[in-house]
Amino acid sequence: MSVAAAPGEVEIRERAPLRTWFRIGGGAERFAAPRDASELARCLEIDPGLRVIGDGANLLVDDEGVDGLVVDLGSEGSAFARVEPVDGRGLVRAGAGASLQKMIPEACRLGLGGIEGLAGIPASLGGALVMNAGGAFGEIADVVERVHALTRDGREITLERSEIAFGYRRSGLGGLLVTAAELRLTPGDPAALRARYQECNAYKRRTQPMTERSAGCCFKNPTLAADLEGVAPAGGRVSAGMLIDRAGCKGLSVGGATVSERHANFITTAKDARAADVIALMGEVRRRVFDAFGVVLEPEVVVWSRRPERLAVLHGHPGGGPGGRA
Ligand code: EPU
Repeated sequence: MSVAAAPGEVEIRERAPLRTWFRIGGGAERFAAPRDASELARCLEIDPGLRVIGDGANLLVDDEGVDGLVVDLGSEGSAFARVEPVDGRGLVRAGAGASLQKMIPEACRLGLGGIEGLAGIPASLGGALVMNAGGAFGEIADVVERVHALTRDGREITLERSEIAFGYRRSGLGGLLVTAAELRLTPGDPAALRARYQECNAYKRRTQPMTERSAGCCFKNPTLAADLEGVAPAGGRVSAGMLIDRAGCKGLSVGGATVSERHANFITTAKDARAADVIALMGEVRRRVFDAFGVVLEPEVVVWSRRPERLAVLHGHPGGGPGGRA
């Protein structure tokens, strides 16, 4: 069911499905696709606690869906999906709803470098900024000059790069509604940029199950609290995929969710999978890695759920305590 929008209003749909890369899970109690700042401000008046859905690439929505309003900034014709040059020397302003995977080849074509290492990472720019998306070949923070956002009470703010707490897969921007960013790209040879883009894409295709349904890496790469014999010394960051692999989890499945044989930090979903299967499998993987190495894995995938016990499986201590095994 949908309610038609009056002038200056924003259309709110009731009980709308949500599209994620897992292609499973429930929908939103209410959904809107604001096309400009005034429509987004209206959404905030309706629900100051609203959630933003980006490309749905790193998101798992629980089977029962979520309460409240979910907004999509990347709809066709939305001001938030625009990308435009600012100074002719590589500074580009892009809306939070712009698609990273459309921006990267276009930047290469125009001879603008700096984001080609993010090839194959599906994301809206807003989602990429909030989680500082990246991999072995770079992260979005490398090119951020400033970020524009709305506070939950509707105030417009601009944060310079130095004011943003970027770190490994984090930015501290999560409480804000990111609306746009200025990215400092570097002029370069289009052919060389394109080659680098293809090389990064090929690495991902070779090592990751790119053609299956997944949300990319499920867990962040942990920093070791203590030396791990034969792996890395204390303080080192190690591949969660490697730990999950060595803990013998490849091929493990719950219902329609399976730990990928190609890269163990990916969970792939069959058509009949439920979000509950993915959550239970992530819980089992956390337990096995904890038992094998004493390392607690922290989810990278964002999970929206009404059920605290499901979230506890993902964030509680896997060796016992809240959400863990007794
Ligand atoms: N490895 C295994 N078994 C596996 C997976 C990996 O032994 O099942 C080993 C590899 O052989 C390699 C090492 O672990 O020696 C590192 O593997 P990889 O290069 O795949 O990197 P990663 O640390 O597992 C990170 C990002 C990926 C990104 C890749 C490549 C995180 C959590 N993951 O993975 O990002 O694509 O580097 O740049 O930071 C994502 O965030 O969704 C994601 C997929």
